Amino acid sequence: MKIVITGGLGYIGAHICTVLNQKGYKVILVDNLSNSFIKMYHQLIALLGEESIVFEKKDITQSDEIKELFQKHSDINGVIHLAALKSVNQSITQPLSYYQNNVGGLITLLSEIKSKNIPFIFSSSCTVYGQADQLPIKETSPFKSSFSPYGYTKQIGELIIKDIVKSNDSFKAMCLRYFNPIGAHPSAMIGEWPIGEPQNLVPLMTQVGIGKRKELKIFGDTYNTPDGTCIRDYIHVMDLAEAHVLGLEYLFSSNSNHYIYNVGLGKGVSVKEMIHRFEKIIEKPIRQKVSKIREGDVPVAYADASKIKTQLSWQPKYSIDDALLSAWKWEKQLHSHNDFQVS
Ligand code: NAD
Ligand code: UD1
Repeated sequence: MKIVITGGLGYIGAHICTVLNQKGYKVILVDNLSNSFIKMYHQLIALLGEESIVFEKKDITQSDEIKELFQKHSDINGVIHLAALKSVNQSITQPLSYYQNNVGGLITLLSEIKSKNIPFIFSSSCTVYGQADQLPIKETSPFKSSFSPYGYTKQIGELIIKDIVKSNDSFKAMCLRYFNPIGAHPSAMIGEWPIGEPQNLVPLMTQVGIGKRKELKIFGDTYNTPDGTCIRDYIHVMDLAEAHVLGLEYLFSSNSNHYIYNVGLGKGVSVKEMIHRFEKIIEKPIRQKVSKIREGDVPVAYADASKIKTQLSWQPKYSIDDALLSAWKWEKQLHSHNDFQVS
């Protein structure tokens, strides 16, 4: 069976590719390389072989490119849609690019595949909940006023999908609301590798650990939490990848056509605790400094993941420490190869 992953050379897409490959699927990776390197494709081939992975350089906001893709590959069995811009902070200064890419891209893609009734997974985010009133957060928790345009693009995306499945019983879709994916593939051959400066906590922390960056800024320590720093639900990217494959297989055999699941470990961990855990793993201190809060940050978010565990039999295999260790191995690998020093 053939599966398209949009944003397939990005952080999460590349890891999903490894799990699909392991289960015998052919994978078509679609990416415009706006936040990834072609070298990621070469890494995937080195890891998995080239027979069952194809790369198509396409922009999902361009309908002619998307039409061409589905004409060339007319036998697609599923689409996992990850291609999006993802910086909460940048979305506040560049809202139009975020709506154009994330909402415009989704509409272009759905216009092409809706009539073909190809099962569809949408990469949503816990950001749709804003600051939830109740913790842990259940899927029934309402959408709150978002802290950022990025958050709104995910809310709008989910609403578009909800309306489409309502209008067409034969179109099956699933929204996965990720909490905070971290870590890397056990081989350390693929991992989080954005263009330019990373924005997320763990790659910034590993860069300080390896000496690429002088110190880690802690974005605020006066939140109403036990140590004053924000709390998140960090989940190993391989466990998240597995959830996509289980989700897709569930869609293939299911009778209903619309599903929504949280994907998180269900454990709230503070920024300071993450730094502390990482320092223990690498056996050295991380230079850090408390700085002002980051606009758009939600103080506390962690999941109730019981729905996906019960319905899809999803069981996370990795701990937060496993994830941090794998991120560290990946950072060391990036550091040791000259041809990786592009960012
Ligand atoms: P990423 O930036 O590493 O990957 C996204 C990929 O999409 C990149 O390779 C980029 O080049 C590509 N892309 C962007 N716009 C495109 C377009 N118009 N056409 C084709 N390709 C395009 O990000 P990621 O961390 O892998 O995130 C993947 C998805 O998961 C995103 O939708 C993101 O919003 C969502 N998500 C991520 C997190 C997280 O913390 N990483 C959390 C929740 C949800
Ligand atoms: C956010 C969104 C998530 C979104 C993702 C995409 C929420 C709850 N989560 O993740 O849905 O899809 O971005 O990128 O809105 N931090 C520091 N110093 C740093 C970097 C981060 O202290 O240098 C802190 C942040 O304040 C936050 C935590 O570390 O509390 C995690 O930050 P990050 O990795 O950027 O992820 P989120 O912002 O939680």
